Amino acid sequence: MVGPKTTHWKLEPHTKAKHEILRGYLNGWFPVMSRYNDRIFFFDGFAGPGRYENGEAGSPIIALTTLLDHAHFSKMECDFLFMFCEHDPKRFASLEAEIEKLQNARAPWPRNVKVQLVNEEFEARASNIVTEMKRLKKQLVPTFAFVDPFGVSGLPIAVIKDLLASPRCELFVNYMVDSVNRFAGAGNIDHHLRDLFGTERYKEAANLQGQPRQLFLHDLYEEQLKSTCEFPFVQSFAMINSHGHIGYYLFYGTRDIKGLEIMKDSMWKIDPGGDYRFSDRLVGQTILFIEDGLDVRPLRQAILTEFAGKAVPIQQLEEFTISRTPYRKSHLRRPVLTPMEKENVIQVRRPGKSGFPPGTIVLFPA
Ligand SMILES: C[S@@+](CC[C@H](N)C(=O)[O-])C[C@H]1O[C@@H](n2cnc3c(N)ncnc32)[C@H](O)[C@@H]1O
Repeated sequence: MVGPKTTHWKLEPHTKAKHEILRGYLNGWFPVMSRYNDRIFFFDGFAGPGRYENGEAGSPIIALTTLLDHAHFSKMECDFLFMFCEHDPKRFASLEAEIEKLQNARAPWPRNVKVQLVNEEFEARASNIVTEMKRLKKQLVPTFAFVDPFGVSGLPIAVIKDLLASPRCELFVNYMVDSVNRFAGAGNIDHHLRDLFGTERYKEAANLQGQPRQLFLHDLYEEQLKSTCEFPFVQSFAMINSHGHIGYYLFYGTRDIKGLEIMKDSMWKIDPGGDYRFSDRLVGQTILFIEDGLDVRPLRQAILTEFAGKAVPIQQLEEFTISRTPYRKSHLRRPVLTPMEKENVIQVRRPGKSGFPPGTIVLFPA
């Protein structure tokens, strides 16, 4: 529907940022998942040609090299299955050549890293996997699905839901909000939009303008990922285009708080004060940087409000920070809890003498 016509194209800064987030996440995901599973699956549904115009790596090469170059790769004993799906024949041929080059350069190729390339549409391949799993009466192994289209067609939420239904499957999807914004009231691609959202509610955007419209479309997709795909944790990241508008959101959906922690850490490494930004809001408030660093006052206030009058295990405070605020786990202890304890705002019952180790209970004022 949109996107370049050529086999290769220029790597834009926002794509580079997207790749950094992907790399950062996989760097944390591979060791965690390989510790607890015999096999894990990386499914790149819109894989691209493998390289950009000036030779920069595309997502398949990034995923593979993040694993192969990982400091702990030799200790990861599980099988890694990579599937790269690209429907355009020329891009597929380019991808095949790039993967072959990588495999030759890294020979002998590790036996536990298996790569499959498919010259198909994402929807067909994903449905095929679902059918095969049903036939075998098996659940899909823990999966990270990267769904990175140019537009809004070919990624029905019903297919994503079925593909990622088992507990340890997660999604990283490029949601082209700009296209949705443009076409939401036009009526000419309604079948794609209905598939994308799994509801007709996107039509309500026609009554809105500007930022409220953008926000509505963001929140609707988030809601659908939570309700239809049953991801309790959803985190988005807004990508600003060269016109200063949000071109697309990266949405990450998971059922695992640890996954959310790793993804937020990875997103935070991309400069939130630069061209890219966090889109999530904490009661309408975005995170600010004040002179001597990050402004953690909104986190402190959110915690005081949420837990007023309660005795709360440290783990619950961590989960709240990760899943209900834009902040990271590392923003909780030293930046927020330590000063509150010094100021006698909170009381702390801890197993040891200092810090906030597991088993710590924090008592909040009413
Ligand atoms: C945004 S690019 C992917 C870039 C790649 N993920 C990366 O980060 O390097 C989208 C790719 O999906 C391919 N594509 C478009 N529609 C598709 C579909 N329905 N199924 C699979 N691939 C598709 C396009 O040819 C294009 O190469």
